Amino acid sequence: MISIKSNRELEGMRRSGQIAARVRDGVVAAIAPGMTTREIEVIADGFMREAGAESAFRGYHGYPGGICLSINDEVVHGIPGVRQILPGDVVSVDVGVQFEGFIGDCARTVLVGVTDGAVRRLAAAGESALAAGIFAARAGNTVTDISRAVQTAVESRGFSVVRQFVGHGIGRKLHEEPQVPNFVSAGRPVVLKAGMTLAIEPMVNMGTYEVEVMEDGWTVRTLDRLPSVHFEHTVAIRDGEAEILTP
Ligand code: MF3
Ligand code: CO
Repeated sequence: MISIKSNRELEGMRRSGQIAARVRDGVVAAIAPGMTTREIEVIADGFMREAGAESAFRGYHGYPGGICLSINDEVVHGIPGVRQILPGDVVSVDVGVQFEGFIGDCARTVLVGVTDGAVRRLAAAGESALAAGIFAARAGNTVTDISRAVQTAVESRGFSVVRQFVGHGIGRKLHEEPQVPNFVSAGRPVVLKAGMTLAIEPMVNMGTYEVEVMEDGWTVRTLDRLPSVHFEHTVAIRDGEAEILTP
């Protein structure tokens, strides 16, 4: 069952989305070479506490962090710790917050002093793919239209989309139906309806789309150790263009 949010529920989603976006932007602004990922997490936790919100990730299936910080060949679900950010790092920041019963989820990749042109093109492809997916996310279209838009945007630029992890419905829970893959897959078409809320989140790899989970049980990295980027917004489906809830 895919839930349709009432206007009142959408108001709640807007509030949690705005907080998630504010935390994300605060973290992005704070990231600098020399910081540890644990220090960045402490900053994020401070922003969440200030807003009266809490992390939607901490404790989720036992996840130990307040946010996810995934560096270079790490794709998603990197756990903050003692690792230091270095010049040239590709840092994916993923923030999920819960506020008054609703969840907002968003991510973006920051390039810390990256000069490599291919990495810059990779990040631009990730942003474009998210924009294309959101543009396709409207009532009457299907989830597959989102998937196709994302996949085409990525592959036309010579990069690959991760298949093992997907976007998702979102609301009172972090992960609701439907799944929102970043590639066209078989299965019954899911028609989008106004009031559905989705997290669209392309994970885009420089090389192979294949990934593996590291020994910590969480961190996902590329099989070929080439870099990966991640961009995510929570959106509300409407007639016409979707509303971005994590602007
Ligand atoms: N944005 C990711 C997702 O929607 C973050 C989940 S991290 C977890 O899957 F720890 F909460 F699982
Ligand atoms: Co998500």
